[in-house]
Amino acid sequence: GKGQHRHFMLKEIFEQPEVIGNTLKTMLNPAERTLTLPQLPFDLATIARVRIIGCGTSYYAAMTAKYWIERMARVPVEVDIASEFRYRAPPLEPGGLAVFISQSGETADTLAALRHCQAEGQHTLALVNVPESTIAREAEGVLLTLAGPEIGVASTKAFTTQLTVLACLAVALGRARGALDRAAEAEVCHALAEVPARVADVLRREDSIRAVAPLVAEARDVLYLGRGSNYPIALEGALKLKEISYIHAEGYAAGELKHGPIALIDESVPVIVICPSDALYDKTASNVEEVVARGGKVIFLSDRAGLARLSAKVAARIELPDAEPLVAPLVYAIPVQLLAYHVAVAKGTDVDQPRNLAKSVTVE
Ligand code: M6R
Repeated sequence: GKGQHRHFMLKEIFEQPEVIGNTLKTMLNPAERTLTLPQLPFDLATIARVRIIGCGTSYYAAMTAKYWIERMARVPVEVDIASEFRYRAPPLEPGGLAVFISQSGETADTLAALRHCQAEGQHTLALVNVPESTIAREAEGVLLTLAGPEIGVASTKAFTTQLTVLACLAVALGRARGALDRAAEAEVCHALAEVPARVADVLRREDSIRAVAPLVAEARDVLYLGRGSNYPIALEGALKLKEISYIHAEGYAAGELKHGPIALIDESVPVIVICPSDALYDKTASNVEEVVARGGKVIFLSDRAGLARLSAKVAARIELPDAEPLVAPLVYAIPVQLLAYHVAVAKGTDVDQPRNLAKSVTVE
């Protein structure tokens, strides 16, 4: 049941420190700062190309993994929405790895994409939350998220456990390909081991996130901006908000602002900016200046240092714990979930069973 929580979604958001920890335990040795993936039926050292396929939130996990794998393993990654991939039927080089991300393991388009890749001689790897699912049974290799049953239609803990496994996959591939040395592996493992505590820290800040919900609840349109590996988190934040609050929301790469969406900015459009203090901070902060100069209401998500450096007059600030750049998407996924949740509660929508949506999309 929902226990002390009013909705399954909130319960599942609060389970994240535990389920991320459980998922990490299957791969990470925190004392030695090493990690080992479960046995796979192919050798990661031979993988020279990776393709990752999913739908919805699982596709955004794939997008995040592209940043991680390209950086840590120096292997080119292509990501695809399953329904686009399957009908495009692109040429595939033999020996490539195709990864299929699906919480349910039953999504029709993702399954069809898996079957296409198998017929084309790709190594296939399923990343699922339901071990007995069709996608898990049909793929050559399986990596499991230990999120436990996810009841809320809006995916939360499945997403962050997917990210957890994908970060580990990036490290393992980097080690196998010789792109990541032992010291770099140790650094990433250390950052990963801290994620459950960082996520728990974000959850303790729920009140400061709830406080911003009224600003968003009154809007008709909302923009989310992020850069680098946090760009997919902007997309995920927008998806969460539209699914459960029915507010129109779009995520953009912050650098794309000037190429179109800035035309939408006025005082009625909140702009939620995901901006940890990392190498890209200054770029995004200058986008914030542009939004503020046009009367936009910015809700700025950053760490203490990032908030202190911001000179623009933003409408609201949400302070988050410091996060290693590599694991920042895992930390920043949480406030966008909580914000969507509290906006939906403020609007009185059906959080766990939003209109028109099914938990698992088994028809095309
Ligand atoms: O079970 P899957 O991961 O294959 O599902 C994919 C999408 O249908 C799913 O992530 C959907 O977008 C969620 N409702 C997002 O919250």
